[in-house]
Amino acid sequence: MLRGYRASLLWFADPAQGADSIRYEEDGLLLVGPDDLGCQVVQALGDWHGLSARYPGLAVEHWPGRIIAPGFVDMHVHFPQTNVIGSPADGLLPWLENYTFPEEQRFADPDYAAEAAAFFVNELLRNGVTTALAFATSHSTSVNALFAQAQARHMRLITGLCLMDRHAPAALLNPAGSGNGAAEQSLVESEALIQRWHGQGRLGYAITPRFAPTSTDAQLRGAGELAARYPDVWIQSHVAENKDEIAWARTLFPQSRSYLATYADFGLMRKRAVYAHCIHFDDDDRALMRSTGAVAAISPTSNLFLGSGFFDYVGADRVGFGYGLASDVGGGTSFSPFHTMLAAYYVGREGHSTSGLSLTPQQLWWQHTAGAAQALGLDGVVGNLLPGCEADFVVLNPAATPLLARKTARAASLAELLFALIVLGDDRVVERTVVAQAL
Ligand code: GUN
Ligand code: ZN
Repeated sequence: MLRGYRASLLWFADPAQGADSIRYEEDGLLLVGPDDLGCQVVQALGDWHGLSARYPGLAVEHWPGRIIAPGFVDMHVHFPQTNVIGSPADGLLPWLENYTFPEEQRFADPDYAAEAAAFFVNELLRNGVTTALAFATSHSTSVNALFAQAQARHMRLITGLCLMDRHAPAALLNPAGSGNGAAEQSLVESEALIQRWHGQGRLGYAITPRFAPTSTDAQLRGAGELAARYPDVWIQSHVAENKDEIAWARTLFPQSRSYLATYADFGLMRKRAVYAHCIHFDDDDRALMRSTGAVAAISPTSNLFLGSGFFDYVGADRVGFGYGLASDVGGGTSFSPFHTMLAAYYVGREGHSTSGLSLTPQQLWWQHTAGAAQALGLDGVVGNLLPGCEADFVVLNPAATPLLARKTARAASLAELLFALIVLGDDRVVERTVVAQAL
């Protein structure tokens, strides 16, 4: 059965053209119906008068004054760090040691993990995020808890067992088990989780070495071998976020050309490999991203909060590797894609070490929707409203606050409208979030 939604529509008409292909239909109609497998997908979209005439008797929900836009894609977020948001520290490594590692240890408890997973999924959806690539902890319980919650909400979610077998408190390291050392056991558990969850409905698995310093060579090598055996599974990790972290990684893996190259040396760079931060790169690192098809999850609120540095958009585009936006909660300060897009704008404007650039609102929106989906290898699946895309969308109220109402009423162009939402918006703008229900 087809269903229609009438409101203003925002989408990207030609993902190969990126942000420039943005389209806005003031009085639009979005048509949604099941595909062959029973998943709700976009069937058509266009202007209300032209399109509705072709579907007499169609059931239509009408949301006057509202904007239907693609659900947001968060390329990197930590579900066990919801309680860590806003923890002050002298940079990344003290922040991990004093706040993050103690909190993550609690996720060995299935009840603790289940409650946190329910809150996390709810918070993503409330903020308009319909696809997420998320870290769990080093406990299988946490992975099962998050997959179960996402499945219950029909949300597209990718996560995996956090691999860490050194340089963290014992309660947070992967345990040894049934005749295996910790490295081997963590990979056995990862494979069992792949078989249980990857490709179940809208769920996907990511092989997840936390970052090179908390893994032994054996664990990284095993992760790379697992990744080679499951090419459509994702890989996620962190790289080149903070100067102290980089110096540490270089002493641990001196044989690699750079911190990033360590991952390549263990077979962990390929398509569907997503590296958070990617700040302190040289052009050889950028070329390695490009040639392997690995992509960056830019995490601007986190990078500003922890004082890590500024992602180099000019460098990334000069060499040409893929990227998209991420909250990185709890280093990041907000689940809201609006806050993340605004922080990305600030990062682009940084003009002390570079000449600074002004990312357009269209580019910012692209990086958190269709662009992020493309970076994840999910173009044509999520992050857009073209026919065939899964029907994940948000209904935005551009007059959600008095200031937003005042500012958006004066918008003389699409760019001005979107920029007002990015600068002034948050969860109050997201009136509802619709995820593609399986029948
Ligand atoms: N590097 C290794 N672990 C983490 C983490 O949890 N957050 C951030 N921001 N960086 C990391
Ligand atoms: Zn992170």
